[in-house]
Amino acid sequence: MESRQIFDKEERNKVLFSNVKVDPSISPFIKNRFEIIASSENYPELLKTIQGKNIRVEGFKVEYLKLDGDAAERPERREKLKDIGYRIDGFPNFNNPSITYAICHYQNLWYFGVLTKQNTAWLKHNKKPCSFSNSICMIIAKTLVSMASTGKTDNNLLDVCCGVGTIMLEACISGFNIEGCDINAKTCQHSRQNLAHFNYTSTVYCSDVKYLDKKYGAAIIDLPYNLFSYSTDSITENIIESTAKLTGRIVIVSISDIGTIIKKSGLKIHDFCTVQKRGKSKFTRKIWVCEKEHSAIEMKINQN
Ligand SMILES: C[S@@+](CC[C@H](N)C(=O)[O-])C[C@H]1O[C@@H](n2cnc3c(N)ncnc32)[C@H](O)[C@@H]1O
Repeated sequence: MESRQIFDKEERNKVLFSNVKVDPSISPFIKNRFEIIASSENYPELLKTIQGKNIRVEGFKVEYLKLDGDAAERPERREKLKDIGYRIDGFPNFNNPSITYAICHYQNLWYFGVLTKQNTAWLKHNKKPCSFSNSICMIIAKTLVSMASTGKTDNNLLDVCCGVGTIMLEACISGFNIEGCDINAKTCQHSRQNLAHFNYTSTVYCSDVKYLDKKYGAAIIDLPYNLFSYSTDSITENIIESTAKLTGRIVIVSISDIGTIIKKSGLKIHDFCTVQKRGKSKFTRKIWVCEKEHSAIEMKINQN
């Protein structure tokens, strides 16, 4: 579902070709971005093309990306890395490269390009000072941010039921502008503590979302689960309808099937998936990507 939201298509064999350029570090699933500079069915031809580009760069590195269907063994891969290295003018730096190039063979074509790897610094959020049993896991939190924003870091986001700020942390490390809101003063304090611990400066409003009046590019709602925080259909309705007044795009998480409530609030469901919690408990989260149907929501606002 994440790749559908960012690239409007799904990956195949762990590879996805797209003109949409995103930083792989916004997603827990995108391991590398490979920007193709040259491709050829014929390996010597590819080398000639690389040579012809007269690349001059100090501190470069070349890696071999082994993709699905590529049977090349290590010695062959090493030879190919040397081939490429000799066609780039400059001294390599294997430990701290200024740029990383890569070569790969996929579906009968050789590719050469620039490789950007996912920065795994976000894993440090595992050690956030405040957590609680209702917190969403980091991988889902990161995916919610990438889906809500469709990968665009200039999108300003709202984490509606921010709890201890798990989603906010993932947005902050990827350079998104995000604000949080929670009705519970203690969890607000905990989310501020978590943000400050990693030197993030996002604002957390201690408020019912219905009192917010700023506009956002997109919002994420991790609804109260009625396990540790009280919830009813009317609370769910209030949260969703209040959020729809602030933004046209909402990613909603719930453990209950609230499809009917979502539609009633004038939102159109664009995408849906379920995520099973690992472990013994049969705990399934449902995720909806919704967009506002302007006429419906405006009618509702006018009626109030
Ligand atoms: C499932 S928890 C969110 C957990 C959070 N994503 C995290 O990882 O810490 C739901 C949160 O919704 C908050 N909440 C409930 N009603 C709300 C409302 N009307 N406006 C804002 N927050 C609300 C609760 O206080 C609770 O912290």
